[in-house]
Amino acid sequence: MPTPTDPLFRPFSLKSLALKNRIVMAPMTRCMAPEGVPGPANAAYYRRRAEGDVGLILTEGTVVDRPAARNHHGIPLFHGAAALAGWKGVADAVHGAGGLIAPQLWHTGSTRAGKWEPEAPVESPSGIIGPDQPRGVAMSEEDIADTIAAFGRAAADAKAAGFDSLELHAAHGYLIDQFFWAGSNLRDDAWGGATLQLRARFALEVVRAVRAAVGPDFPVIMRVSQWKQQDYEVKLAATPDEMTAWLAPLVEAGVDILHCSQRRFWVAEFPELDGEAGLNFAGWAKKLTGAATISVGSVGLNTEFFGAFRGQASGAVPFDNLLERMARDEFDMVAVGRVLLSDPDWVVKVREGRLDELHGFNPEVMSGLI
Ligand SMILES: Cc1cc2nc3c(=O)[nH]c(=O)nc-3n(C[C@H](O)[C@H](O)[C@H](O)COP(=O)(O)O)c2cc1C
Repeated sequence: MPTPTDPLFRPFSLKSLALKNRIVMAPMTRCMAPEGVPGPANAAYYRRRAEGDVGLILTEGTVVDRPAARNHHGIPLFHGAAALAGWKGVADAVHGAGGLIAPQLWHTGSTRAGKWEPEAPVESPSGIIGPDQPRGVAMSEEDIADTIAAFGRAAADAKAAGFDSLELHAAHGYLIDQFFWAGSNLRDDAWGGATLQLRARFALEVVRAVRAAVGPDFPVIMRVSQWKQQDYEVKLAATPDEMTAWLAPLVEAGVDILHCSQRRFWVAEFPELDGEAGLNFAGWAKKLTGAATISVGSVGLNTEFFGAFRGQASGAVPFDNLLERMARDEFDMVAVGRVLLSDPDWVVKVREGRLDELHGFNPEVMSGLI
């Protein structure tokens, strides 16, 4: 007999990816890679989530080969023999537990304030972090070409290390997103411009380099967000037409899956068009581009979330809301972040209906994760 959680536990396939369920571990920075090299403790942490039956694990952001790509010294590198060997160990550990894993490839742009590598200038499209906020230098043509090439090399390395996919971090106000956003991209050359579509050229070239590096069959995910850490209220695309002009060329260039980052998955993207209960960001991105999408944002964060599912008075965000959206294929997968930090067995408990054992997110786990 089907159970109410079935929409979450259907398999999902795309190219060489075959997920056993629709639950993705959201990428979460941990700053726990000494010298930028992931070791056995990092492998054990990810393996634990694979043992907990997560469908696809996205690693914490890990940086491409540019001098100032990191904004904290505990962030893992995705270049150099030692770090890549460490990452291969992580992928092997996850595969050993029957899981799938993709690295999140990252450049933090001008979010970096640290001065621990003074020879590496902070770089971004226009030498600002947001409107009227100078930070670092504007990238030259050479810097841009080298950064695009670095993403390409990282993609080839991800495939060679045995990862199942890769995710490009183009969200949350970091480098790629700094090119998208008019508030941080003031360039008047071919890397900037008055429209989001023009400012998406950097991302487009990154996707092309990545696709060329991994070939046609390797699944490529791109994480995008309307919001920025610099300003939660920013909307890059104010209309579906703008969203199409932004995302469709990226899909055309080789993105297979759009990971549409929202802080709350149940918030409608264009409520003026389809109401407060309308499609969310991942729903619109799927509808407009035809690409597969991942949604995210506050899944399972408090016990109230499961109220309606338990037959109790429904909380503000009933689990049913997620299941209904998944059942009608509004989006294809859902990423779960903080809850999987607190509880590596969250997926198993949901599947087995052990809802009384779910306890949301405990911030104390941040200090010593395993
Ligand atoms: C500790 C922590 C670190 C994060 N690091 C990243 C990151 O490296 N890359 C990224 O795209 N998002 C990052 N995020 C955002 C999460 O991937 C996710 O989108 C967010 O936590 C919302 O999902 P949740 O409500 O299920 O936690 C981070 C979030 C947390 C809590």
